[in-house]
Amino acid sequence: MRVLLVGGGGREHAMAWKLTQSPLLKKLYCAPGNAGTGLTPLSENVPIAATDIDALVAWAKDNAIDLVAVASDDPLALGLVDACQAAGLRAFGPAKAAAEIEWSKVFAKGLMRKYNIPTAAYETFTDCAAAAVYAKAQNPSPERPLVIKADGLALGKGVVIVRDAAEAEAVLRDMMEGGSFAGAGRRVVIEEYLRGREVTAMCFTDGGTVFPMPPARDHKRAYDNDEGPNTGGMGAITPVPDYTPELAARCAEEIMRPAVNAMRAEGRLFKGILYCELMLTADGPKVIEFNARFGDPEAQALLPLLESDLLEIMLAVEAGRLDTITPQWEDAACACVVAASGGYPGDYRKELPITGLDALPKDILVFHAGTIAGASGRLVTNGGRVLAVCAKGDTPGKALGRVYGAIDRIHFEGMFYRRDIGALKPL
Ligand code: AMP
Ligand code: GLY
Repeated sequence: MRVLLVGGGGREHAMAWKLTQSPLLKKLYCAPGNAGTGLTPLSENVPIAATDIDALVAWAKDNAIDLVAVASDDPLALGLVDACQAAGLRAFGPAKAAAEIEWSKVFAKGLMRKYNIPTAAYETFTDCAAAAVYAKAQNPSPERPLVIKADGLALGKGVVIVRDAAEAEAVLRDMMEGGSFAGAGRRVVIEEYLRGREVTAMCFTDGGTVFPMPPARDHKRAYDNDEGPNTGGMGAITPVPDYTPELAARCAEEIMRPAVNAMRAEGRLFKGILYCELMLTADGPKVIEFNARFGDPEAQALLPLLESDLLEIMLAVEAGRLDTITPQWEDAACACVVAASGGYPGDYRKELPITGLDALPKDILVFHAGTIAGASGRLVTNGGRVLAVCAKGDTPGKALGRVYGAIDRIHFEGMFYRRDIGALKPL
């Protein structure tokens, strides 16, 4: 089979690494990919942006692609899966109307309210003055903050926790009337602040059958002790020791299956990977948000443990016959720590040489994210999250020990990483 994988981050390199192990695969193309996907045997990069829907579909048609695997959020929201289907191409991932569960928080909250899926109490607004009146009436304080969310995709920057009414009003003005959210904030959700620890619970689904994956825990803040700005994710572990089998069963029965069934009932069959970001509250797991794809860096921590053939799973999802296979996972742990560019998630330099990757122990896996082959083939930085350094172990602690024992052998100017991935956040 000839597969086109759409995206260019660490998640996509991990997917490419796994897909190229499939006996069904003849050739993988990644658009746009990164230096890692370009170096993976059987894989080749195609210089088309993940958001250039017309060019991707035309290229896939011209190159006799058997499956277009859409890995990242923007092309899902732009309708790449629908465009592929209209052109007679098979595609893995939800159609635009199903991906709305990620690209509109207002839609996702409405779905949860209608189908009694546990989530934070909330209201939605399109009028800034009405939103500010509501926020003030909630009387936010450091003990009882409020969470303000831009409706659309905002690169992880569309969520602000506010602790008093004046702050709430300023945030609402910026989101709803300022230019910084480019349309994503014209509608907002204002919701109750949930206390607890977060967990990423993902599943494969063809819209009927649901296969939960092992849980993962991502660490979103840039610096140790959950300080600093939110990022796309600075590291992840799997499994998650405090996410017990009982909680996993509750999540499957109270959240995953009801959400998949709700989407079907709404005429928006969800096929692909449903990502449930949960807060483990004293009242049980509640949804913080849904995504319509693999998490990044959760995919880098999970895919090394997937024993089954990822391509076979994707084909079964696409064909609506997920009930004919059972994905198998290795009963072990895996950890991933992201090496980021100095300044990320704000401004950072690019094209800095990366060294040390050839001197790593054999049990370390490195997935590239923001990397590119520079002049004379030298590996250089090309993004904020540069590399995901991963290792397996019997426990998350042992896996983390391997990663932290090796990561300092890698070098690029300004490189930083969190030293506390996997540590339990105090409650
Ligand atoms: P999101 O973009 O919805 O994943 O939110 C980004 C981060 O904001 C999450 O990872 C949480 O840490 C935090 N967050 C979002 N919603 C809530 C909430 N209702 N209560 C507490 N924290 C939240
Ligand atoms: N790691 C969070 C995400 O992929 O959305």
